[in-house]
Amino acid sequence: MSEPQVYPVPEAWKRRARVDAKGYETLHGRSIADPGSFWLEQARRLDWIKRPELAGDWSFDENDFHINWFADGKLNVAANCIDRHLKDRAAATAIIWEPDDPEEPARRYTYLELHREVCRFANVLKAQGVRKGDRVTIYMPMIPEAAFAVLACARLGAIHSVVFAGFSPEALAGRITDCDSAVLITADEGRRGGKRVPLKANADAAAKHAPALEKMIVVKATGADIAMQDGRDIWYHEASAEVSEDCPAEAMDAEDPLFILYTSGSTGKPKGVLHTSGGYLLWASYTHELAFDYREGEVFWCAADIGWVTGHSYILYGPLANGATTLMYEGVPNWPDSSRMWQVVDKHQVTSLYTAPTALRALMAEGDEPVKATSRASLRVLGSVGEPINPEAWRWYYEVVGDSRCPIIDTWWQTETGGHMIAPLPGATALKPGSATLPMPGVDPQIVDAEGQILHGATEGNLVIAKSWPGQMRTVWGDHDRFFQTYFSTYPGKYFTGDGCRRDADGYYWITGRVDDVINVSGHRMGTAEVESALVAHPHVAEAAVVGRPHDVKGQGIYAYVTLNANDEPTEELRRELRQWVRSEIGPIATPDAIQFAPGLPKTRSGKIMRRILRKIAEGDTSSLGDTSTLADPAVVDDLIANRVA
Ligand code: WT7
Repeated sequence: MSEPQVYPVPEAWKRRARVDAKGYETLHGRSIADPGSFWLEQARRLDWIKRPELAGDWSFDENDFHINWFADGKLNVAANCIDRHLKDRAAATAIIWEPDDPEEPARRYTYLELHREVCRFANVLKAQGVRKGDRVTIYMPMIPEAAFAVLACARLGAIHSVVFAGFSPEALAGRITDCDSAVLITADEGRRGGKRVPLKANADAAAKHAPALEKMIVVKATGADIAMQDGRDIWYHEASAEVSEDCPAEAMDAEDPLFILYTSGSTGKPKGVLHTSGGYLLWASYTHELAFDYREGEVFWCAADIGWVTGHSYILYGPLANGATTLMYEGVPNWPDSSRMWQVVDKHQVTSLYTAPTALRALMAEGDEPVKATSRASLRVLGSVGEPINPEAWRWYYEVVGDSRCPIIDTWWQTETGGHMIAPLPGATALKPGSATLPMPGVDPQIVDAEGQILHGATEGNLVIAKSWPGQMRTVWGDHDRFFQTYFSTYPGKYFTGDGCRRDADGYYWITGRVDDVINVSGHRMGTAEVESALVAHPHVAEAAVVGRPHDVKGQGIYAYVTLNANDEPTEELRRELRQWVRSEIGPIATPDAIQFAPGLPKTRSGKIMRRILRKIAEGDTSSLGDTSTLADPAVVDDLIANRVA
């Protein structure tokens, strides 16, 4: 491999940034050598009801497993994101909302208006009996009310569980039931790329399989004709007209839960990742400021959906805790045309844009014209998240979108980590396309081999984090043992990320992708086991094995091997039906890109499916299948190769 190109920190950035290269080394060094005093000092960035005197108190050891940060501190997360800004910037814009359809007007909320809206929403929830510690599920389109709902929960100390609006009724029902949520907040419909999403109808379908659900609060977003169920469903606009505009913020312990967010793992059903209040907010706020060098008055646009952790930390909590103006976009990158994102940048004078490589690759395929037709002069920083960014997309982002002016901040992190873990700082870190570069302060990454031996210097292996950090998840909802088993049992005493990673001679980290049975489709995480169990739930399917294979735009595509029941015929029609089936079981993001009918799957004599072989065949790399002689029936491989779906 040729040496990657290095992009040094430009002079102007060295002068203006809060943290330069030396500053970064000092910060990181102190954060690791003396985390206690480092984090107590950083904790001052939050507004505490009771300032903590304790920092991290944790052990990843099985016999003494616990994780606490700032345990004696008290605060309210919503008050940190809203109330404390009222003194100095009540009239500053907190949220800019850009609708799906560019012909419609944008909406803006000042911090004062945000305060009023969130208090109202909180009072509506209160009137429905929601109290501290209760779970509230939010299944909403990207409209301002989604932000109000999230912050209203935080204000009351209720635990929100946002479910991405692209998930199916079945997936929604499973998540409502898992966390025993009595209240669901939804909207009549969502809008994306000119199309309507029937959210209320989906919610109704989910409710049939979610006995815990008692109340549905429905926001009127499009005015679509929907059914309301007496005694269960409440129109938000009616309920909110009857409540006060003021609602006190609940005093919460730093370790009280803030939210649950379901994410896919390598086994079983999605896990409810639980984040708590003080450490999470500190992490979201600190990393937002540091990685994007956020300055007062800037307009920050994170183009994710609030249904993912990126939306939680960098549309809402991080920017709002920092008093920023955050842009919320309802639509998709390429509608009405592929200039849309850059038009939004110009329209709202966006200073920082944070998006996913998959969106960049899709737009890149449309050529440079749609970008060049816009100014983009307001941009200062460009962020990337969700999957490794390939150097071609990196360069296009840098040269075409940013006119070679804006650093590319490639941020590696996970739902579990709460915020950025490995990312460059604009004024401190020379960039290498494809590398997330260096750890954030407080992050102590290590690369280990399969046996857990620490590998030093330039090397490649599995990425673990050796020390706790404030933004770390605290448990899997309802299954603390699964939390320990999933993350701390593979390499005792360390947090295992599930990612492979290379470190170069400069100490730069290069994430190579998941090493478990999780695939990354368009920056979204999908458990192969989840897609498999959806497939085998179909009456004609006997067995299924799902692997990821490289996809030009999505990063990875979903390739499914399906064995039908003995008397079922493999037809094109059934193939279409199975794709549709998975869509409705999980959601459109889980739709298989390719389905191969396979009379048999390659298994060991003990019955274990050899996914390594299936991955290679899906990729078309059949020259190096390795040893297949241990298979129970080596002949199945020839059939699989012959019938591969291109
Ligand atoms: C997985 C986490 C981070 C929030 C959005 C996704 C992959 C994420 C990067 C990056 C290489 C990345 C990893 C990670 N990933 N960011 N910058 N470079 N890989 O959160 O759904 O929890 O997925 O996404 O494989 O483990 P998530």
